[in-house]
Amino acid sequence: PDLFRPDRANSRGWDLTAAPDLAAIGAARQPFAIEHFDAAPLLAVPAQGGAAVDALNPARPGERVGRVTQASRADVDAALGAAKVWDAPPEERAAVLVRAATLYERDFGRFFALLAREAGKTHLDCVGEVREAVDFLHYYAACITPDMAPRGRIVCISPWNFPLAIFTGQIAGALAAGNAVLAKPAEQTPLIAAHAVALLHEAGVPRAVLQFLPGEGAEVGAALTSDPRVDGVVFTGSTDTAQAIRRAMADNLAPGAPLLAETGGLNAMVVDSTALPEQAVRDIVASAFQSAGQRCSALRCLYVQEDVADHMLEMLGGAMEALVMGDPWHLTTDVGPVIDADAAREIRAYVAEARKAGRVLHELRAPGSGHFVAPVVIEVNGIDDLPREVFGPVLHVARFKGRDLPKVMAAVNARGYGLTFGLHTRIDNRVQEVVEAMRVGNLYVNRNQIGAVVGSQPFGGEGLSGTGPKAGGPDYVARLAAPAGGLSGE
Ligand code: NAD
Ligand code: ALA
Repeated sequence: PDLFRPDRANSRGWDLTAAPDLAAIGAARQPFAIEHFDAAPLLAVPAQGGAAVDALNPARPGERVGRVTQASRADVDAALGAAKVWDAPPEERAAVLVRAATLYERDFGRFFALLAREAGKTHLDCVGEVREAVDFLHYYAACITPDMAPRGRIVCISPWNFPLAIFTGQIAGALAAGNAVLAKPAEQTPLIAAHAVALLHEAGVPRAVLQFLPGEGAEVGAALTSDPRVDGVVFTGSTDTAQAIRRAMADNLAPGAPLLAETGGLNAMVVDSTALPEQAVRDIVASAFQSAGQRCSALRCLYVQEDVADHMLEMLGGAMEALVMGDPWHLTTDVGPVIDADAAREIRAYVAEARKAGRVLHELRAPGSGHFVAPVVIEVNGIDDLPREVFGPVLHVARFKGRDLPKVMAAVNARGYGLTFGLHTRIDNRVQEVVEAMRVGNLYVNRNQIGAVVGSQPFGGEGLSGTGPKAGGPDYVARLAAPAGGLSGE
């Protein structure tokens, strides 16, 4: 693939320190500040539609952002029957995806407003989200090769935490290979997804090639992933859901239908006594608390070498005090809400247990209304004390003796996940030692461990964290194309 063509440059994005960019964001998103959005299934045939549900603002739970009509079982059936592979020549498919990228950037104000109001995304997260979606469109367009043939009908199922970037990346990858795509967004974020699909259609993706089926995972998602007409599934979400989908596919789909799953993580970072404290603390805060900790890549368990731990934890507490929590609509907000009432309840209950056990080292105060969870640091002995992935601004911290680094790495590997790992050190040999020992998809040295960049940092994990190939990497589109020699040759 010609991945380094000049027209594949990543999106410029928006600079939140530049007054013209800030003015442009403010002006572009203002018309959508109180707009009520509607979404419904977009099929190649008339949709019947099922239940209609409200989309609510997680920062202001009384605010209805819009209303979505779910797809019915009959819609799933009709969409699968009407789906058509994309028989346009490769260069036309690439041009349409690149055109869609332009339309995404044209409509950034609407996306920024929707991302803040439906998904609780801060400005910084909105910039990252729109940029990444645009980058996926360009990158996968550049991955198209003339000899590529589609697999057939590909189901794309995405999570709410990257409601634009991951939703778009999955679809763009499957479309690049010429497949018919049936896209089901997360139930919490259908409005953002609906606008993305409208833009892909506007760019020239035929309606029978890309159909949109909002709905519950257990209903619409389960119906799509257990239908024998489906030729492959692209999924991002929890490890448990991926396992349910794998079972449904094994029981119902043709053998060889691929499942590309990107799932959860129990991500660790090691900070040794040679690390630069200011830099490490800045990167810990970003890794654990940006996006309110709702990133699969987020730091969950920090290991600090005991000689520097007291100093580092004091600095961490100070840096946390500087975080601004609140409504993501405001530019100054660093930490917004978690996605909904269920998530807030579950995380607060987890933190309450830790508080009761006297293990909370630092905790901020959350705003009174809205689904806010205050960033918190909980002391643990090691990663084995974490019962599961807690998907919020909850950082666990353990101390380690320098000579025990191999044991720390073995314990992290033994949990079976393998998504991100962070290392802060100034010892060159240590970098090599950690790179060789850790079984993870993305390992970051002396920086934060979130925000992989399409093309330069392909993203995805091992073990319980995913199947590969990595998103935003050179193998992704090829995996969604029919293998050379035909589908039966797998
Ligand atoms: P989730 O698994 O609950 O839901 C993800 C999607 O699956 C949703 O669209 C949901 O409707 C659908 N779904 C649920 N049950 C289904 C079923 N039985 N059949 C088919 N589809 C079904 O995950 P979530 O809460 O939306 O997202 C958070 C999780 O996603 C976290 O575990 C996070 O680590 C993970 N994640 C991973 C990555 C990655 O790249 N590795 C990226 C983002 C999020
Ligand atoms: N790709 C996202 C990140 O790296 C999940 O944070």
